[in-house]
Amino acid sequence: MANVAIVGTQWGDEGKGKIVDLYTEKADIIARFQGGNNAGHTLVVKGRKTILHLIPSGILHDNKICIIGNGVVFDPAVFLQELDELREGNLLPPNTKLFISEKAHLIMPYHRSIDQAREARTSDKKIGTTGRGIGPAYEDKVSRTGIRVGHLYDEDLFIEMLRHSLEEKNFLLTHFFKEKPLDAKEIADQYLGYAQKIKPFVADTSLMLDQEIKRGKKVLFEGAQGCHLDIDHGTYPYVTSSNTVSANASCGTGVGPNAISKVVGICKAYTTRVGEGPFPTELNDAIGDHMQRVGQEFGATTGRKRRCGWLDMVLVRQAVRVSGINALAVTKLDVLTGLEKIKICVGYKSPSGDYTHAAPASLKTLSECQPVYEEFDGWKEDILYAKEMNELPANARKYLKRLEELAEAKIILASVGPGREETIILEDPFLNRI
Ligand code: GDP
Ligand code: IMO
Ligand code: MG
Repeated sequence: MANVAIVGTQWGDEGKGKIVDLYTEKADIIARFQGGNNAGHTLVVKGRKTILHLIPSGILHDNKICIIGNGVVFDPAVFLQELDELREGNLLPPNTKLFISEKAHLIMPYHRSIDQAREARTSDKKIGTTGRGIGPAYEDKVSRTGIRVGHLYDEDLFIEMLRHSLEEKNFLLTHFFKEKPLDAKEIADQYLGYAQKIKPFVADTSLMLDQEIKRGKKVLFEGAQGCHLDIDHGTYPYVTSSNTVSANASCGTGVGPNAISKVVGICKAYTTRVGEGPFPTELNDAIGDHMQRVGQEFGATTGRKRRCGWLDMVLVRQAVRVSGINALAVTKLDVLTGLEKIKICVGYKSPSGDYTHAAPASLKTLSECQPVYEEFDGWKEDILYAKEMNELPANARKYLKRLEELAEAKIILASVGPGREETIILEDPFLNRI
């Protein structure tokens, strides 16, 4: 058995989509296990860019099974639109199958309205969410008032659940947020329409995974967001509403934790963040501008400019710890080309002079921490065409070596451009088990 989980080690957008697309060649099944269409995973194949929000990033390969697991919050309108776009672009391979867990919770129109109204109201405390209804959908799941994909196929039950939920949501929308109420009949008609369209994809995906794993099929679990957006382990409350760490690959798809044999952490060669929240190594200067411009750091979901800063190994080490990462894929190394000096944050210093390798849970303490840097000489050579480690300039290799030492996890891939072929592959994660 060799099943691999891919997770982000920072605040998302590490390049997970590119790596999942690349590793799909070695896998049989690609499964999303959490998040929803807050994710934006970019794939660049033969110069053509595809951004996936909900459909797993293995979809461009033929003869695969793509699964949207029970841990995902599922917006049927987004799913159908994404599917249409892939179809129109001639990007859907003939023998690849797509399935949605009957247990995935639906994102309803009131989830989006509440998400957006809450963000608009609390301008000084806003999270900077994607406005896709992710948080409110997970809230309903946990409060046991959510509606699952499977509920769509018992019409009476679906309408009853919708009316029950909407009564409370409309009260909140009208009385608290001063928004217009939503109409139950309109939503029911819309969602029952979606139900027919998505019916061929709905399945017991946990059972399917179990059967396929027993047949020796290889699974690639595709994480969304990143470790520091995790609801438990991230910079709370500036996080998303799901567990983004590798353990959720098990809960979010319905397989046991022992089904995951390797965890690959995706680590951008610098750090970015979209939305609000602390960012100790953030650069509001020409170097930050360089990273933003050269790295084309715009949100793949909302188009917002991403905040940029130096690589923070306190964050990456923590991700290695909480996700049990045993291999790293480092992305966007090419973006650092041309910088005179490059820094890595190796620890934080508190105002009292204490030195720490772990990010404090208190955001107040974190905001008082100063990053401690190691400085490296940069390189000027174009590295876009490097296929082997020894084709990289010595200074780029030194940078990666130090990153590897600090992470205490082996680098098995270095990405030097957005395309599939712009990659230095050192090890196949499905072959070498740790
Ligand atoms: P994800 O959410 O983790 O899948 O990452 P995104 O797709 O949101 O953001 C990563 C961006 O970087 C995308 O535009 C990718 O095409 C691009 N990208 C990925 N790897 C590399 C790389 O090695 N170099 C460069 N220049 N761009 C990359
Ligand atoms: P991928 O999978 C980067 C951020 C939002 C916001 C916070 C909460 O592409 O890496 P939400 O809408 O989830 O309630 O927003 O989380 N966020 C992401 N940032 N990449 C993502 O996904 C993100 N998904 C959510 O910007 O700060
Ligand atoms: Mg993204």
